[in-house]
Amino acid sequence: MTKPNIVAGRDVSLPLCQNTHLIRWVEKMAQLAKPDSIHWVDGSEAERDALYEQMVAAGTLIRLNQEKWPGCYYARSDAGDVARVEDRTFICSLSRDAAGPTNNWVEPFQMRRKLKSLFSGAMRGRTMYVLPFSMGPVGGPMSRIGVQLTDSPYVVVNMRIMARIGAAVFKEIDKDEKRVVPCMHTVGMPLAPGQKDVPWPCNEEKYIVHFPESREIWSYGSGYGGNALLGKKCFALRIASNIARDEGWMAEHMLIVGVEDPQGEKTYIAAAFPSACGKTNLAMLIPPRTFDGWKVWTVGDDIAWIKPGPGGRLHAINPEAGFFGVAPGTSAATNPNAMATLARNTIFTNTALTPDGGVWWEGMTKEPPAECLDWRGRRWTPEIARETGARASHPNARFTSPASQCPSIDPDWEKPEGVPISAIVFGGRRAATMPLVFQAFNWTSGVYIGATMGSETTAAAGGQVGTVRRDPMAMLPFCGYHLGDYLRHWLKMQRSLRETPRIFHVNWFRKDDAGRFLWPGFGENMRILKWIVDRARGRALANESPIGWTPSYESIDWRGLDFPRETFEELQRFDRHAWRAEIIGHEELFIDLHDHLPPEMIYERELLICRL
Ligand code: OXD
Ligand code: MN
Repeated sequence: MTKPNIVAGRDVSLPLCQNTHLIRWVEKMAQLAKPDSIHWVDGSEAERDALYEQMVAAGTLIRLNQEKWPGCYYARSDAGDVARVEDRTFICSLSRDAAGPTNNWVEPFQMRRKLKSLFSGAMRGRTMYVLPFSMGPVGGPMSRIGVQLTDSPYVVVNMRIMARIGAAVFKEIDKDEKRVVPCMHTVGMPLAPGQKDVPWPCNEEKYIVHFPESREIWSYGSGYGGNALLGKKCFALRIASNIARDEGWMAEHMLIVGVEDPQGEKTYIAAAFPSACGKTNLAMLIPPRTFDGWKVWTVGDDIAWIKPGPGGRLHAINPEAGFFGVAPGTSAATNPNAMATLARNTIFTNTALTPDGGVWWEGMTKEPPAECLDWRGRRWTPEIARETGARASHPNARFTSPASQCPSIDPDWEKPEGVPISAIVFGGRRAATMPLVFQAFNWTSGVYIGATMGSETTAAAGGQVGTVRRDPMAMLPFCGYHLGDYLRHWLKMQRSLRETPRIFHVNWFRKDDAGRFLWPGFGENMRILKWIVDRARGRALANESPIGWTPSYESIDWRGLDFPRETFEELQRFDRHAWRAEIIGHEELFIDLHDHLPPEMIYERELLICRL
């Protein structure tokens, strides 16, 4: 018997579902982690308010100025818990071969022993929350359910924004024997009797572990982002990619947008970019003023679950319900829709805190505040920044905001069967070599383009910043099985389709010799999206190049922008020499994947070499 635990007038220790399997699992996990109490999360507003109040009292959250930032809260993480930890992320499939060379692998029985010892008593002095969540609309045919056990109330309130949680999900679990993905999470800092807690408990030792065959997630030691909000990267990508391969669909690191023309014709595009390459900005793009009647609608900004629909076309849902966006660089100039979205009911983590109870981050306004507290709680001024280089916000500071608040949210964003996908776009952050845009010759060459994608690394994951890493389909840190098999799955998908989406590659980040960006980006990307839509609908001309179909200057809609032809030509320039080096880079990836690499990848590379 667990002891009563009254929150917002409800005894939350009492199970909220009848599923004996789930109840027994919760009991078993409680016996292992030994929390002081259990809280079955119903997802109500009263419960949310009680959790906020409790966290404000504990110092985990600061309530922002409610007049300026209604419903908003602020958190500072531990300085050692600021990003996803890829080197501590494990895919523990039964065989090492199934995980592939790009994932960390530990023999599953050995890992289970390790986790058992780590989780033993790990929740002492804390409450264990039983958090049911649906990825995708509750009850939808493409949706999936997980239950996360966590000792972090910060995780509960963030997951409340990022997924559909609570009573409705328990009801769904009770309806029939729905398969639930068990997600076990602890911050790894048990409290001895009388021991005072810290605002952001965590552990120096971190383990983010996935068991693909049994579809389980175990996360230890971190309270931050993708390490702890287990519905996102762990479930919706790493575990879901395994489920999708087995069931014939795709779990992808992609935004989804609907591009609507003045006649009301809407074309949906899914686009994969590595972390922190402007996915959220593209997902919420506002067309230039001169693009009268054009509109870009947001379906999702990070993850797409894509499945062949009844008509033989791919349909996609955004399995998430919120945005966990990178704050620095987000402004009324770069992304007004994001700024409107995050203006209320948002949790900010590791931004700066202004004296009037607001938040600030680098790039939010032209003029920085005269002073503020930085993400570590220390006094920060522009002078201090000039002298020491200190940042006010952490480069991976985030906002957690409800997607429903986004002004550009697509009316069909929660359509249970998803939206039809006409084009798939791959992109990376590349200072050289990659043109602004080109189209793959066909599905197989498109898979090759996605497979060999590269990008300069950013702050979204721990590790070195600024070197090019190969990141197939932006899934390198997120594919829960062998990347060679993943490419094979992509190729195979074509067979279940009557109409394949067209595939494109974009690069908003090409620079000139002086290191200046050649392309303005942001809203101007609409011009490229329009060409993509026109190509996908068979309306625009293109020129054949060794790497694919490319637009001429004339086929891009330049209305309202005086963009020099020479700059466009420089952006599109195909540099034979650079491409030789590029292909050698592809080879490095292929060597790693060789024994699972589909032969089509070798043929495509050979054809590319011939065309060079
Ligand atoms: C993210 C990431 O947080 O890709 O979306 O790192
Ligand atoms: Mn992402």
